[in-house]
Amino acid sequence: MTGAAGFVGSHLVDRLAADGHRVSGIDDLSTGRLANLADARRTKRLSFHRFDVTSTDLVELVARDAPDVVCHLAAQMDVRMSVADPLRDTRTNVLGTVNVLDACVRAGVPRVVFASSGGTVYGDPDRLPVSERAALHPTSPYGAAKVAGEIYLDAYRRLHGLQGVSLRLGNVYGPRQNPHGEAGVIAIFARTLLAGKTARIFGDGSSSRDYVHVEDVVDAFLRCLGGKGDGRRFNIGSGVPTTVRELHALVARAVGVVDAPEFAPVRPGELQAIALDSGAARRSLGWEPSWALADGVAQTVAWVRTH
Ligand SMILES: NC(=O)c1ccc[n+]([C@@H]2O[C@H](COP(=O)([O-])OP(=O)(O)OC[C@H]3O[C@@H](n4cnc5c(N)ncnc54)[C@H](O)[C@@H]3O)[C@@H](O)[C@H]2O)c1
Repeated sequence: MTGAAGFVGSHLVDRLAADGHRVSGIDDLSTGRLANLADARRTKRLSFHRFDVTSTDLVELVARDAPDVVCHLAAQMDVRMSVADPLRDTRTNVLGTVNVLDACVRAGVPRVVFASSGGTVYGDPDRLPVSERAALHPTSPYGAAKVAGEIYLDAYRRLHGLQGVSLRLGNVYGPRQNPHGEAGVIAIFARTLLAGKTARIFGDGSSSRDYVHVEDVVDAFLRCLGGKGDGRRFNIGSGVPTTVRELHALVARAVGVVDAPEFAPVRPGELQAIALDSGAARRSLGWEPSWALADGVAQTVAWVRTH
């Protein structure tokens, strides 16, 4: 697995190790943390390697381990950073993906499950919830790199027979989440309100996102490991748009403070609304989200409180 020490990756490692699988995890620890892997390391089922995803070390490791499947989650995941430094974003998010796919072909790995992004590949779609058939209109280098990754995966299937699935994740939230990620606003609101400060909403609070709990995302990855959904792209989200204003109210309730954010001018480049139709994942993978947002927010706030 790449990106093993990150937010989503470490939860996937935990679950795979708990299910008795042996996992080779690579991560350059640029945003990931070894602390996220503390539980998995105790199980002795994880071997961890601090590599860059674009390195030849990764190619050699995949050749040596010849895994049954590679879950590719390593990414520069800060959308704003991708706008500020597109070349750096491309290096990790495009070249890194190509390196992973190439390593898999050389080692005869049959299958890759790729963490794509439902929140950024569609842009601002005309109809919500958006299905996988909608046109792709990314509005950032980050979103463009996710589209590129999906297309490379398709090309490698045709060219080399490498199988795989792209999971277009919604805004993933839960314990260990990073304030810079696509669902970072939950961590930011939680930290601010727990510190007794007032949280700031950019714009009027009406912009909305599709929040999906990290354990539901892990469940989607697990369903694809054996070949279900090969060659496909699946939205993985709740289907429900939640506005920033609603989210603030949920976090305030979980923290136990009054729901009174302050408002600042809208930031350029922000999407107005996204919600993902995950009907295809339900029909083909049997996947459905199981976490209610209010419960997941309460769990995340409890985690932020103790960390
Ligand atoms: N969190 C979300 O809301 C969300 C939504 C859609 C898609 N995704 C995707 O899911 C994946 C995991 O995201 P996350 O939220 O866990 O973010 P994260 O930053 O916690 O995890 C990404 C991991 O990749 C590692 N990494 C970054 N650059 C690397 C490099 N050059 N070489 C090796 N490792 C490198 C980081 O150290 C980090 O541990 C990413 O591909 C992200 O784009 C996340």
